[in-house]
Amino acid sequence: MNSSRASSDNDPKKSALDALIDFLPCPTPDAWIDAALQAQDVLLIDHANCEKKAASTALNLLYRYTDDFALLDKLSRLAREEMLHFERVIALMKRRGIAYRPLSASRYAARLHTAIRRGEPGRRIDTLIVGALIEARSCERFAKLAPHLDDELGTFYTSLLKSESRHYRDYLALARKAAGGASIDDRVAHFLAIEQELIESPDDELRFHSGPPGGTQPARRKAEKSRG
Ligand SMILES: [Fe+2]
Ligand SMILES: [Fe+2]
Repeated sequence: MNSSRASSDNDPKKSALDALIDFLPCPTPDAWIDAALQAQDVLLIDHANCEKKAASTALNLLYRYTDDFALLDKLSRLAREEMLHFERVIALMKRRGIAYRPLSASRYAARLHTAIRRGEPGRRIDTLIVGALIEARSCERFAKLAPHLDDELGTFYTSLLKSESRHYRDYLALARKAAGGASIDDRVAHFLAIEQELIESPDDELRFHSGPPGGTQPARRKAEKSRG
């Protein structure tokens, strides 16, 4: 990873959003935004699933790592915030008459988790880095989607930026702390490379963290047609 990315979250002149966009390996492709705007029901259901999953991941860490009060405090608060986000998503779905139907999970988190080391402290450091990446990508997508959404959903997504960018910073700080002063840059670079592949390579299913649509999806065909 480059040094400007490694230190960007320490620069007081940068906004929290700019810092996490610098941290991420690539922007969300426009083709994903186009596809997501055409499937907002799916997006909201998967968003609700992601909020639940974010809370349960934090709770799992509270069970596994009881030796760090800062971790326990930060992740307990994070889990509560994610459940509040979940309640806001399902309230919005209810108002819009969107049924909460079962939806398979995307490849994104599963693929990142396969790269987590098994032994400690590697497992702990890697799990916290993956947490930071997922929070950062969620935040980047909320920001990128918001201007294209209706007022209610756009305002909701904009309101999530502050807490999700804080979650990213908290996870990254906890990963650094777990490394006990050793550099985590190599591990961060390892996960950033995997994340970039997941964000830029065609994906069969539209989900909140999916790649751009594969050849079978209408948005892709439309985008290709418009490019001539
Ligand atoms: Fe959230
Ligand atoms: Fe979050």
